[in-house]
Amino acid sequence: MSNKKLSGEVYYPSQETIDKANIKDWDELNKYAGDNYQKFWEERAEELHWFKKWDKVMDDSSKPFYKWFVNGKTNISYNCLDRHVKTYRRNKLALIWEGENGDSKTMSYYSLQRETCRFGNVLKSLGVKKGDRVTIYMGRIPEIIIAMLACARIGAIHSVVYGGFSVESLAERIEDSNSKVLIVADGAYQRGKIVPLKQIADEALQRCGTVEHVLVVKRTGQPINMEFGRDMWYNELINLPVVSKECSLEEMDAEDPLFILYTSGTTGKPKAILHTHGGYMVGTYTTLKYVFDIQEEDRYWCAADPGWITGHSYIVYAPLLTGATSFMYEGAPNFPYPNRWWSMIEKYGLNILYTAPTAIRGLMRFGESWVNRHDLSSLRLLGSVGEPINPEAWKWYHRVVGKEKCPIMDTWWQTETGMFMITPTPTVPLKPGSGTRPFPGIKMDVVDENGNPVKDNEEGFLVIKTPWPAMIRTVWKDEERYIQQYWSKYPGMYLTGDSVRRDEDGYYWIIGRVDDVIKVSGYRLGTAEIESALVSHSAVAEAAAIGLPHEVKGNAIYAYVILKAGKTSSPQLVEELRQHVSHEVGPIAKPEHVEIVESLPNTRSGKIMRRVLKAKALGQDPGNISTLEE
Ligand code: WT7
Repeated sequence: MSNKKLSGEVYYPSQETIDKANIKDWDELNKYAGDNYQKFWEERAEELHWFKKWDKVMDDSSKPFYKWFVNGKTNISYNCLDRHVKTYRRNKLALIWEGENGDSKTMSYYSLQRETCRFGNVLKSLGVKKGDRVTIYMGRIPEIIIAMLACARIGAIHSVVYGGFSVESLAERIEDSNSKVLIVADGAYQRGKIVPLKQIADEALQRCGTVEHVLVVKRTGQPINMEFGRDMWYNELINLPVVSKECSLEEMDAEDPLFILYTSGTTGKPKAILHTHGGYMVGTYTTLKYVFDIQEEDRYWCAADPGWITGHSYIVYAPLLTGATSFMYEGAPNFPYPNRWWSMIEKYGLNILYTAPTAIRGLMRFGESWVNRHDLSSLRLLGSVGEPINPEAWKWYHRVVGKEKCPIMDTWWQTETGMFMITPTPTVPLKPGSGTRPFPGIKMDVVDENGNPVKDNEEGFLVIKTPWPAMIRTVWKDEERYIQQYWSKYPGMYLTGDSVRRDEDGYYWIIGRVDDVIKVSGYRLGTAEIESALVSHSAVAEAAAIGLPHEVKGNAIYAYVILKAGKTSSPQLVEELRQHVSHEVGPIAKPEHVEIVESLPNTRSGKIMRRVLKAKALGQDPGNISTLEE
């Protein structure tokens, strides 16, 4: 960093951090990548294995359908496993896992490769082929990683559904992706209880008709229903003597789909974001290596869930691509006591912790003494993701967890971007609450309604102006929606859906979503999903959902409901409606509060004005309401 004095409260890196860092001079790298971003990404791609080299780094001839590493042939699963197994990393730990109930397991690169191959063969024997979709619905257990890598190896497209989603969310995603195979666990441990994943899946399967085979991983062991001819135990199949540990892989085109992942958008049903083998691999690999500064001896912990993009990119793929040792924990942070996380950092000597502001705020509430009971001196770097981190939580994280010696990597990105976009690297001076600046080679801007750049410190829409390798390729089966949602407001610029302010030092300060997406505990939910769940209840005529500020969750869901004629409001009904959303969408979507109302603020065209509801709930001026129906 140049010697320019930065404004506001700034935390500078220590000499120790600078000495260790993969990138010592961010400015130099930024200039290099900024002058020729394609060359920068090409050089990163050369660090990985390709069966055939690309003809062209990037092709924008049919934009916004960008292509990266055109005609290159690779396989991300090969790069995650086989590439290392051929080296001294063969016996290095790829994964250290601890269950909430104290079970634990470690897997070396070789054992992870062997299991992945065996499972790849099981999938092949069930007729799964390149391009087929496979839905995965599990908790945080090693098998979720094996399942994803096995799909990638044989060229199947995985669609992971987060274990915190429920019946309708799962059914909808299976149906939309047309999956023939579902991989599920019998259950998951969460805060001492069992989440009955297989039971939820059984109910979901009654609502959709595409699945032919269900593979069940035994985790919790309670009795479950196994449907003859459809359901089989993963553990039995994978251990059959006929199942070989050699599994030939598909040489994938760089642009072949790797996975789809459903996420909430502005309107309507969740949409499936499509990522590919080549660009996604290069983008996630590079960003993890530079931002979390992965060193050979590191033990890295991303405490997210594999069911979200954070887990796809930075639990499963990028750590394995960099040859790191990852830690994964199954359960709740405060189970059985609020020191669970800290005790595991001490026990396994973890060096990097990457989590969300909501988790930090949640653990902060229990007080410092729970943290101070443990030796956290192994920690070298911390990370934050999912929503803006409030300076109070940042400082607590920095002082109490990081003992003032661990820089915090506040990474801004999205399911669609696939990789970190605004983020520091360890030597960049930090300002609590800001993700600092775009990653080298990424060009972003803050613009007004008409697409013109706004002045420093003014709020505007965050846009991305150059393509990047891990970018979304399309919305699954819906190219129109891809264009409409991301590329139509401002031609040539990718619309993020976030509002932001950039200060005089070029540091970005994310304010929040400007659409109907609500971030609850860092989870991305759409008002439409919650509303459609409410309306599916027999007593409900109309519903509106909004997010209101919440001390720990960031935002909490408030729902307003108009009942059908003849239905009467009662505390029991309100509770029933909350439960109904939890059952249909998932516990993460359960409204904090449901209010029964007589009417909702509609525009003359019948659109609910959530903005007006929100202003009213916060006691603020609703602003322009000229379009409001009388
Ligand atoms: C939205 C994307 C990709 C990570 C998990 C979330 C918000 C994400 C930050 C951050 C402020 C953040 C944005 C973004 N967001 N990271 N560091 N600071 N806001 O992925 O579920 O696709 O959500 O999360 O609003 O648009 P996602």
